[in-house]
Amino acid sequence: MAMIEGFRIQNYRVLKDIAMGRIGTDTKLRKADPLTPMTTVIGKNGSGKSSIFDAFGFLADCMHTDLETACNAQNRGGYDKLVSSGSDQPMSLTIYYRESKNDRPITYEVSIAKDEKTELPIVLSERLRQRAKSESKGQPRSFLRLEKGKGSVWVGDESLEGDETSKREVEFDPHKLAIVSLAEQFKENPRIAQFKQFIQSWYLSYFTPDSARKVPQAGVQKHLNLHGDNMGNVVQYLERNHPIIFKRILKDISNKIPGIGTIEPYRDTVTNNLYLLFNDKGFAKPFTQQQMSDGTLKMFCYLLLLQDPIPPPFICIEEPENGLYHKLLETLAREFREHATGKKGASQIFVTTHQPYFVDALSPEEVWILEKGEDGFSTIKRASDDATVQNMVKEGLPLGGLWYSDYLDAR
Ligand SMILES: Nc1ncnc2c1ncn2[C@@H]1O[C@H](COP(=O)(O)OP(=O)(O)OP(=O)(O)O)[C@@H](O)[C@H]1O
Ligand SMILES: [Mg+2]
Repeated sequence: MAMIEGFRIQNYRVLKDIAMGRIGTDTKLRKADPLTPMTTVIGKNGSGKSSIFDAFGFLADCMHTDLETACNAQNRGGYDKLVSSGSDQPMSLTIYYRESKNDRPITYEVSIAKDEKTELPIVLSERLRQRAKSESKGQPRSFLRLEKGKGSVWVGDESLEGDETSKREVEFDPHKLAIVSLAEQFKENPRIAQFKQFIQSWYLSYFTPDSARKVPQAGVQKHLNLHGDNMGNVVQYLERNHPIIFKRILKDISNKIPGIGTIEPYRDTVTNNLYLLFNDKGFAKPFTQQQMSDGTLKMFCYLLLLQDPIPPPFICIEEPENGLYHKLLETLAREFREHATGKKGASQIFVTTHQPYFVDALSPEEVWILEKGEDGFSTIKRASDDATVQNMVKEGLPLGGLWYSDYLDAR
């Protein structure tokens, strides 16, 4: 499965410069441990958890629109509000990722600044790098290298900077990411197309119980959308195309959500509306999604997402605990871990949380602590880098409990 081994965010809101995991092209982070398939970020209010989530969201939005529109989307408020206050440096994002365990990692780096003349955000530089197949040492070389939209791309599966025959001079509109335009030429740029496809497959949850209560028109849809308002359509798809998996999923889900007997889709033949019927154990008549509680719908949405026969490679969820009873939260944390195995077909899961019960189910390598410093910007550290925390966890103390007792904060 594709895995993000590490990333760095610079000059993005409260995140002046934070890095997580391994980045092979960064001398300081080359030897750091890669991110685990399950990664959780904790931190006080205002420490920057949502900003990390949003940096991923911003990149995902740039896959289908120009930079200015992406800077204004999701209430971001435009470039000036996004760039770290007082900084004269560009916003930058580095992602170090692997398509699969056997593939050599790729580093993607992009810097965005405001054009002084037009006042519009532009791509200052954009670069993709990989080590040659034949080389086991040395710095990876570029296969895309652009400054303000102009530069070179090395086409094909293997070619890299230095190979003149596969080098193409290119020029793009600097108001958009070049990887989006280049990926269209799929045959020439399979690595770029794969990377774009990877980002487009991310699932950044914007779930709200109210959107999940909407009654959609009948019709199958393969994957759950970001708001969760097509639950019924996904259920209909699974029922029709994967009947055996579907039965198992519903049994599984109804076992995990207290009080729920069975769950089934129901199509109103007059209106063609699609309902989900939740059979509550205590009542003869089932309830529809509109009558279900926030927590039940949320749990159902997450479980459905995890049970997708082709799950998203990267799932990002902010504060999944909101609206969930603490016992259910432990179930959910365990469920996330079971799916974030790092194996083929599994998902990498990135979660932000305030909830110690959730953190209890995790190991120190999986937990990162964000902290806002005196200068107003945040730093991040991995719980496993603290020897005291490591020892206490080895002795059997749960990580969430340690956090609750202030052992994870800077001392
Ligand atoms: N352009 C900017 N430059 C610097 N800091 C910024 C900028 N924009 C917002 N901030 C700061 O970022 C912080 C908000 O960060 P964020 O929303 O990511 O926190 P959070 O950890 O998600 O908090 P919560 O737990 O309350 O959801 C605030 O302290 C805010 O002042
Ligand atoms: Mg937040």
